[in-house]
Amino acid sequence: SGKFFVGGNWKCNGTKDSITKLVTDLNSAKLESDVDVVVSPPFVYLDLVSSSLTDRIEVSAQNSWIGKGGAFTGEISVEQLKDIGCKWVIHGHSERRHIIGENDEFIGKKAAYALNEGLGVIACIGELLEEREAGKTFDVCFQQLKAFADVVPSWDNVVIAYEPVWAIGTGKVATPQQAQEVHVAVRDWLKKNVSEEVASKTRIIYGGSVNGSNCGELAKQEDIDGFLVGGASLKGPEFATIVNSVT
Ligand code: 13P
Repeated sequence: SGKFFVGGNWKCNGTKDSITKLVTDLNSAKLESDVDVVVSPPFVYLDLVSSSLTDRIEVSAQNSWIGKGGAFTGEISVEQLKDIGCKWVIHGHSERRHIIGENDEFIGKKAAYALNEGLGVIACIGELLEEREAGKTFDVCFQQLKAFADVVPSWDNVVIAYEPVWAIGTGKVATPQQAQEVHVAVRDWLKKNVSEEVASKTRIIYGGSVNGSNCGELAKQEDIDGFLVGGASLKGPEFATIVNSVT
């Protein structure tokens, strides 16, 4: 439901040279028109990408501060992101939850502030392998979802990314059935806890080892509304293949 959405999360990768090449490849790629396409470079290259990338593709940050700028060493404010033409920000990514140690409350604050200031938010949720094995996948996803739901001013500019942690960067992609099962559960949760309208309109995208070969089967699933791509988004032609997997 909603327009297909494909995001490329470049994470902490790239150099001026490699990113300039990637932008050139993306600028010349043939992309299906019925897809929202967003890329998320590291902060230091955001301005370069935002000013050299085709308007066809929007730019996202990988993080933003909880409030207005000021004496917050090392942080980047939403106002600064908007100033350089950035339209989106990723929050709740598993690498920030589990490597950096961000909790639901902090993630919620950052997401709410960004939305209030007019950025779109890619809100990430997903369970660890041990949580899946313990049968806690839905519990974990719903708790992370609730932390967003409790604070977001509106769902209009939110895209939910379901990224099972065991599938991220591992080459172990979720099966289309595994992903579809969680996407349906997330949509049901939205229906019960937010509204029927938000449940049907909000894009729920899948992330975790998506590549040019497995995107087609995943994209066919009724409740998979796009992808958040890590490694494969660093290659322009493969990323274009994933964008064009829209069915
Ligand atoms: P990979 O596609 O490299 O598994 O990363 C997925 C991801 O974390 C996107 O945010």
